[in-house]
Amino acid sequence: MRRARGRKRVFTKFTITFSVRATFTAKIYKMQAGNPIESVCERGIEAADAARPIRHVNCRIIRNYEFAPTHFIIDLELADFGEPLMPGHFANLKCDDKPYGMLYRPLSVMEWDRSTRILTIYYKVVGVGTEWLTRQGVDTVLKAVLPLGNSFGVPDTAKKAVMVAGGVGVAPLIFLSNRLRIERPELPVLFLMGARTMDDLCLQLFRQYSIDAEFATDDGSYGHRGLVTELLAGEFDTDGQIYLACCGPTPMMAAVKRLVPSDVIAEASLEARMACGIGACMGCVAKIGQRKSVDGSFTYSTVCHDGPIFPLHRVIFD
Ligand SMILES: Cc1cc2nc3c(=O)[nH]c(=O)nc-3n(C[C@H](O)[C@H](O)[C@H](O)COP(=O)(O)OP(=O)(O)OC[C@H]3O[C@@H](n4cnc5c(N)ncnc54)[C@H](O)[C@@H]3O)c2cc1C
Ligand code: FES
Repeated sequence: MRRARGRKRVFTKFTITFSVRATFTAKIYKMQAGNPIESVCERGIEAADAARPIRHVNCRIIRNYEFAPTHFIIDLELADFGEPLMPGHFANLKCDDKPYGMLYRPLSVMEWDRSTRILTIYYKVVGVGTEWLTRQGVDTVLKAVLPLGNSFGVPDTAKKAVMVAGGVGVAPLIFLSNRLRIERPELPVLFLMGARTMDDLCLQLFRQYSIDAEFATDDGSYGHRGLVTELLAGEFDTDGQIYLACCGPTPMMAAVKRLVPSDVIAEASLEARMACGIGACMGCVAKIGQRKSVDGSFTYSTVCHDGPIFPLHRVIFD
């Protein structure tokens, strides 16, 4: 699969504070005329990374429905956007109708049909933005910024792919599984999905996309009773090139990291609270890399621009 990884940039706390990018961002905010976030997006996108076709687009709602309590699927028609979207990419969606509203909300691409230009997103209602989204009907036009982030990089040498998903982390992994089925039909894919209860497992998504998966729930209401990581036991005992991708709550991904041998190529899609979404504000940094021995500080990368996908073994979860 083609890898659309962004330029690697690593920051120390010191350079974050005094980076050229931060100064640039401050200038953008200073000269803004309208909505701060729109101003950053519209004026900052080009400078943030000229190599990526990040754009502010209008999307018309085709369908927006609740398939399980608090779990929604929204189909958006992006008439003016025909570029490829890769598994791992996300969109920043404006989730209110006020000109000086909230920060755009990051939501992963679960499916992108380039011929019909329909983008499918799965979202769970957790707060004001996602609740507002549930009330938007067909033909409402929303604003979005995309494509954001990098994408998964399944090595050509992989003989098996393992997906480990928790909660809303299922969306990018469904996209990846579907792409692998089309582009690498010979590659076996094991999909492991965990949630607190059966209601949060999104079984409808697995049925809709015809994805075979093994399930785990904390309360035992469906599948294995316990953690999804328990389903990984024995997976790495045999020889063979395994590729692993995980996306879900931080404790889940930290547990996966502890279980995966260091020679297995593994990637984690991280979540962070985001503001600009384009690598300009440094509001979403995560600890990536080794703890430095000299002053004890960490190195940082932006989840929105350098990520959200990082080599699992380099992510420092604490
Ligand atoms: C790269 C990326 C991809 C994502 N993809 C999806 C997706 O496909 N589907 C989906 O449902 N959600 C996804 N999320 C999470 C989604 O962005 C948040 O749930 C959403 O922004 C919440 O907005 P809100 O206004 O409804 O909640 P708010 O009112 O802003 O917050 C409600 C509660 O949710 C918590 N919260 C909000 N955002 C986050 C976050 N990013 N990480 C952890 N906790 C958070 C807050 O701390 C608070 O407790 C993704 C996040 C990232 C960073
Ligand atoms: S740098 Fe602004 S949200 Fe990531």
